[in-house]
Amino acid sequence: MIKYYLDLLKDRERIETYQKAISQSVKSGDTVLDLGTGLGTFAFFAAQSGAGKVYAVEKKSIIEMAKEISTINNLHEKVLFYNGYSKEIDLPEKVDLIITEMFWSLFVSRVTMESIKDVRERFLKEGGRLIPNSVKICIAPVSNEKIYDEIISGYDYGIDFTPAKKMVINNMHQRHFKKEDLLSPPEVVKEIDSMNIKLDELPIDWCGSFKSSRGGIIHGLAGWMDLQLTDDIILSNSPLSPSTVWENIFFPIESPLEISEGDTVDVIIKTIPFENDYEWKWDVILPEKGMFESQSTFKGFPLSRDFFKKKSINYTPTLSSDGEVAKVILDLFDGRKTAREIAEGIKKRFPWRFKKIEDTLSRVEKMIYRYSK
Ligand SMILES: C[S@@+](CC[C@H](N)C(=O)[O-])C[C@H]1O[C@@H](n2cnc3c(N)ncnc32)[C@H](O)[C@@H]1O
Repeated sequence: MIKYYLDLLKDRERIETYQKAISQSVKSGDTVLDLGTGLGTFAFFAAQSGAGKVYAVEKKSIIEMAKEISTINNLHEKVLFYNGYSKEIDLPEKVDLIITEMFWSLFVSRVTMESIKDVRERFLKEGGRLIPNSVKICIAPVSNEKIYDEIISGYDYGIDFTPAKKMVINNMHQRHFKKEDLLSPPEVVKEIDSMNIKLDELPIDWCGSFKSSRGGIIHGLAGWMDLQLTDDIILSNSPLSPSTVWENIFFPIESPLEISEGDTVDVIIKTIPFENDYEWKWDVILPEKGMFESQSTFKGFPLSRDFFKKKSINYTPTLSSDGEVAKVILDLFDGRKTAREIAEGIKKRFPWRFKKIEDTLSRVEKMIYRYSK
């Protein structure tokens, strides 16, 4: 876990750009919320920039390390830590500024957008500010045979793995592209205002055209985000910007397409609500050549008949044997029994499933962690 956070910390471009935006945005005495604080870095920058109080919210246990760092840096009186998922947390007051960086390379994720909307509505004062205040999602057609081959090859053992290859093509991949991989200037497919995140509309539903700046082979599309941290500070993981810890998102196409300079490349890109997140669809069309490629993350993972059956609103669920164990464990969370007593009760109740107390204990511990207070 610590490696992940140290890798984030080593990304000077990301950290220093945020630091600059924070020091420009925090006014003396401000109350600030850092959503997804990790090691506490941005909360500490806010405190150093003159904030009166900083609420640092983090759902993972890395927060314990952040607390230690705040103490040795003498920031513990200003920075107050809240361990938990933001939706389950209540702050004692509203704040002047919300800072957040809990993104993946393309920003658009249902939980991220829900979390920002939720804290903005509950905790931001009238006239308060948000970092980032908006984000642009950009795409461009790209050519990079090495990246493409790395994704679709390496499975040659005398067995035809075509179905698995088709599936991998219908996935989004994280890769670093360079300026020279772009076949045309990018287009903005969506601008999201952090103050006004709308969850009831499709985050991305775009069709448009690119004019190729040179001839080459299109292997797919690359996507990235331009985070508008303040009116004049942008942080981007674009292939045209300094490299950051975020890679680009690569949307490959099944059959790479040959284009000439000046050719039109039409693209349709769309996100559709699916499960708790979004299904992504991307089509690449060469109208002059009558060629068309269409991929979707819906085709990117195996879906069983059972999955579709259970998704029906007419499905009548009954508890599985695992569900029965979970139900009994939850019933035993009565504020009196210890973890060991619960585990012993479960072993006695389901002797055919649990041979040793350790097996029961580990199941009980997981549920304690998730569902107890
Ligand atoms: C990409 S890390 C960034 C950490 C830190 N902001 C930084 O830039 O170094 C995102 C952090 O946000 C936390 N996180 C994501 N969603 C959260 C939520 N809704 N509530 C609390 N923490 C959240 C994750 O656990 C993770 O530690």
